[in-house]
Amino acid sequence: MENFVFYNPVKILFGKGQIANIGAEIPADAKILMTYGGGSIKTNGVYEQVKSALAGRDVLEFGGIEPNPHLETLMKAVELVRQEGIDFLLAVGGGSVLDGTKFIAAAVPFEGEPWDILAKQAPVTAAVPFGAVLTLPATGSEMNINAVITKWETKEKLYFASPLVFPRFSVLDPETTFSLPPRQIGNGIVDAYTHVMEQYLTYPVNAPLQDRMAESILKTLIEEGPKTLANPHDYDARANVMWCATMALNGLIAVGVPQDWATHMIGHELTAEHGLDHAQTLAIVLPSTLSVRRDRKWQKLLQYAARVWNIVDGSEAERIEQAIAHTRNFFESVGVPTRLSDYGVGVETIPAIIERLQQHGFSTMGEQQDVDSQVVEKILTLSA
Ligand code: NZQ
Ligand code: ZN
Repeated sequence: MENFVFYNPVKILFGKGQIANIGAEIPADAKILMTYGGGSIKTNGVYEQVKSALAGRDVLEFGGIEPNPHLETLMKAVELVRQEGIDFLLAVGGGSVLDGTKFIAAAVPFEGEPWDILAKQAPVTAAVPFGAVLTLPATGSEMNINAVITKWETKEKLYFASPLVFPRFSVLDPETTFSLPPRQIGNGIVDAYTHVMEQYLTYPVNAPLQDRMAESILKTLIEEGPKTLANPHDYDARANVMWCATMALNGLIAVGVPQDWATHMIGHELTAEHGLDHAQTLAIVLPSTLSVRRDRKWQKLLQYAARVWNIVDGSEAERIEQAIAHTRNFFESVGVPTRLSDYGVGVETIPAIIERLQQHGFSTMGEQQDVDSQVVEKILTLSA
C-alpha cells in the first residue's frame, strides 16, 4: 500500500426528513444564498422543505444552474454574492448545482479572473462556506473537493479541487430522488460505478481492504440500482444507491492505491464537444478502456471478474472478455447506451477529442501514464 493522508470533514445528514434539520447547521446570523438548477426542486417538494427549514432566516435565491454548469451563469451568482454580502451558500440539486456552488464559493474572494482557478489551476486560498441538499446520487460532489465547470464560450470543460470547497454538511434524503427521470437514474448508477472502477481497476498494490470496499460498492450498485429503475419509490434501494454514490468518490477507496481517471478525462472532452451527459460518455469509454488496456490491468480484471461477476470458468483471456462484456451489458441494462453511434457521434470526432486532451495537458493519462493519443484513438475507435 502507498502512503496516504486522509481528511474528510463533511457532516452527512442521511435519511427521510433530514432537510428539516439544516437550520441548525447554518450560523444563525448568516445571509444565505440558496442555489439550484432548472426547477426540478420546485416540482418535487424539495424547495418547500428547504424554505420551511429556513423560515425566518435571511435567504436569497439563485436558480438556473444548468447541467454541466456554465461559468457564464455562475459568474452572475458571484456578482450577486459580492453585492449582497452573502456569507453562506446552500446548494440544492444534483452534482451540477453542487459543483457550480463550489465554484461560486471559491470565485467570490478570488482576486483576478476566476476561470484561472480551472484553466491555470490557480490556488484557491479562501472560499465562502456552503452546505448541500443532494437530489441526484451520482457524482460524490456532496462529500468531496472537486468541481467540474464548463466555459460555454469556448466549450471547455475543466475541473478544480480544493479542500476549501468541502461542503460544511450535506443532506442525503433518498426520498428527494423519487422524482428522478429514468435517464438520470441510469446516469447516476453508471457514474458511481465508473468512479469505483477508476480507483479499483488498475494494478494490485496489496490493499485488500480498499479492494473489498470497492467491490462491495460495485456489487451493491449492480443489485440495488436496477430496483430503483423498476420501482422508483423503493426507499431502501434509493438509500443504498445514494450511499454507494457518496462512498464511491469521497476519497475513502482511493487511499493508498493507484488511480486511473483516463475514462473521465476523455469523457469530459466528449461532453464539451458533443453535449453528451457525463455518464453517457463514461458508458462509451470505460468498456473500451478496459479492453484496450487489458494487458496492464490483467490481474485486477481477473479479480473483478471473479469477485464482482462470479466469473471463474474458462481461460484467463475468456474471463476477462466476459467481465468487460458484463460491464457493458450492465450499463445498457440501466438505460445508458455504450456506443458513440448510439448518440449520433461518428469516429471523425476522434482527432478533435485528442487535440482537446492535448490542449488541456492530458497527453498521457492513466495509472501508468501510458494512455497517450494513440491509445485514446484505439479506445474511441473501439467505442464506435
Ligand atoms: O436542473 P434541475 O431542474 O434540478 O434538473 C436536473 C438536471 O436536469 C435533474 N435532477 C436533479 N435532481 C433531480 C432531477 N430531476 C428530478 N428529480 C430530482 N431529484 O437531473 C438533471 C441532471 O442534473 P446534474 O446535476 O447535471 O447531474 P449529475 O448529478 O449527474 O451531475 C453531473 C455533473 O457533475 C460533474 C459532471 O461532469 C457534470 O458536470 N461531475 C462532478 C464530479 C465531482 N464533483 O466530484 C465528479 C464526476 O465525475 C462528474 O465529472
Ligand atoms: Zn463521474
